[in-house]
Amino acid sequence: MTDRATRVPAVVAGFRERFGTAPRVFSAPGRVNLIGEHTDYNDGFVLPMAIAERTYVAAAPRSDDTVRVYSRELKKDRSFKLSDAWARRGKWLDYIEGVARALAARGVNVRGADVYVTSEVPLGAGLSSSAALELALGLAFNTLGGGDLTPRDLALVGRAAENEFVGVRSGAMDQLASALGREGHALFIDCRSLEVTPVRLPLDDVRFVICDTGVRHSHASNGYNERRDECQRALALLQRAGRAVQSLREVGVEELDALQRILPEPLVRRVRHVVRENARTSAAVDALKRGHLAAFGRLMNGSHASLRDDYEVSAPELDFAVALAQREPGVIGARMTGGGFGGSAVVLVDGADVENLFESLARGFTEKFGRAPGLRLAMASDGVREEPTAGA
Ligand code: GLA
Repeated sequence: MTDRATRVPAVVAGFRERFGTAPRVFSAPGRVNLIGEHTDYNDGFVLPMAIAERTYVAAAPRSDDTVRVYSRELKKDRSFKLSDAWARRGKWLDYIEGVARALAARGVNVRGADVYVTSEVPLGAGLSSSAALELALGLAFNTLGGGDLTPRDLALVGRAAENEFVGVRSGAMDQLASALGREGHALFIDCRSLEVTPVRLPLDDVRFVICDTGVRHSHASNGYNERRDECQRALALLQRAGRAVQSLREVGVEELDALQRILPEPLVRRVRHVVRENARTSAAVDALKRGHLAAFGRLMNGSHASLRDDYEVSAPELDFAVALAQREPGVIGARMTGGGFGGSAVVLVDGADVENLFESLARGFTEKFGRAPGLRLAMASDGVREEPTAGA
C-alpha cells in the first residue's frame, strides 16, 4: 500500500502512457471480514471492514462504444463493444463487462471508455479484490455516464455483475463493505434488510493482522456455489417439514437439536454453522460496543472451528496459521476470513505483540509449507470514492 498522494499521480501517469489522455480516477477498498462468514447469502449478519489496500480505476470516455481495459497487474489489454451480444468468457474481462452491463440494465448511460486498472488488493487472497474492482469500476462508469447511483446502489450492481455475469452466486457483503467502508469502523450488516451500521473499532491498543496463506481460491470453480446449494436444499427440507422460515436466518439456536431429525448429513452441520455464526456475529457486535475484546476473540475462535468442522470451507494452511496464532502471546482471537478454501486468516492481537506475531507466523508457516505467508496490518478505511487528480 502506498500513500494516496503518490498513488494517484502514478495511476494517472500509467493511464497517460497507455492511452495518451487525462483520466478521472476512482478507487475502492478490499475488505476483511471480522466475523459472520457464509451468512450473507442466508439473509444473516456479517461484520466486515474495508481495508487500506485499494483498487484504482482510471477512465476517460471514448467517442465509440468500445470499452478498452488494461490491467497493470495482469499485464492484459482487452476490449469489448457495448453493442455486441454478451457471452461469458470465464475470464477477468467478465467482471468489467458484467459491471458495465449491470449498470446499463439499471438505466445508466454506459459509454465507451478507456480504462486502466491497478490494484493493491492481492488477488485471490480472500480480501475481495473482485468487489474492489467492481465498485471502482461501477463508480467510474456511473460518473462518466452522468448516472446518479449511490454507493449502496453500486454495491448491488457489483453483486449483480458477480452473480449474473461472472457466475459466482455471492452475497452482498463484500460489495457493501467496499462501497460503504468507514475509517476506524467495521460495518455490521443485516443481509436481509441490507441495513449497514458502522461500529467503531476500539483499536487504541489492539490490531487486526491479516495472514495471507498464498493458497489461491477461485470461487467460480470450487465449493462456494456448492455450499449455497446445500443451504437451499436444507431450507427446502425445513419448509417441507412444516417450518415457516424464508431463510436460514430465521432458524434459532434453540431449534438446532430438533433439526437433527429433519436434516441429513452434511446439511445438518451446514445449518448449524449458519445459525450459530449469526448468533456469534450479533454477540461480537455487542462485545465490541462494550469493549469486551476477550469475548470478541473467543467468538472469532469459535467461528473458525465452525467453518473448519461444520461448514468445511477451511484449508490446512488456514488451520495451521490460525492454530499457530492462537498460541502466541497477546493474541485475542483468530479465524479464517472470506469464502475460504484458501486465502487469508485474520488475527486480533495486542498492539505490543504484533511484531512477535509477525515473526512467529513467518517462521512457523515457512517451516511447515516452505514459503512465507503475506503479513499485513488491517486498517479500517473509507469506501469507494473519486480521487482528486488536480496536479496529478
Ligand atoms: C465470499 C462472498 C461473500 C460471502 C463470503 C463468505 O467473500 O463473496 O458474499 O459469502 O464469501 O462469508
